[in-house]
Amino acid sequence: MNGRQPLLELESLPDPGSIALEIERHGQRLAIVVIRHQGHVHGYLNDCPHLGTPLDWVPGEVLDRDGQYIVCATHGARFRIHDGHCISGPCLGDRLTPVPLRVGNGRIYLDSPPDMPEE
Ligand code: FES
Repeated sequence: MNGRQPLLELESLPDPGSIALEIERHGQRLAIVVIRHQGHVHGYLNDCPHLGTPLDWVPGEVLDRDGQYIVCATHGARFRIHDGHCISGPCLGDRLTPVPLRVGNGRIYLDSPPDMPEE
């Protein structure tokens, strides 16, 4: 999809906080997570690089208790929020697949082209 696609209102997402969404790309539905942390917004495929399972432990919740890391619900891998790099767990050194987002006019947009596999 070309152009910017509005996803949600910025203020609907607490800081720190996360939400799981589905986007459409080339007719394919893709699960993503959007994270707000320290005034910044980050997006990743909701897809752990270890086994490809969703990250969230309850729908949309991917942050640890302190809101400092993304944690995979399946085996507890921890990822840095700002770059998706795995810093502990079975996929140490791997990283989440980023989804480019942009904030403007109080909204979070999917920027294009998303950095994700073509179908
Ligand atoms: S599937 Fe995420 S840590 Fe194993």
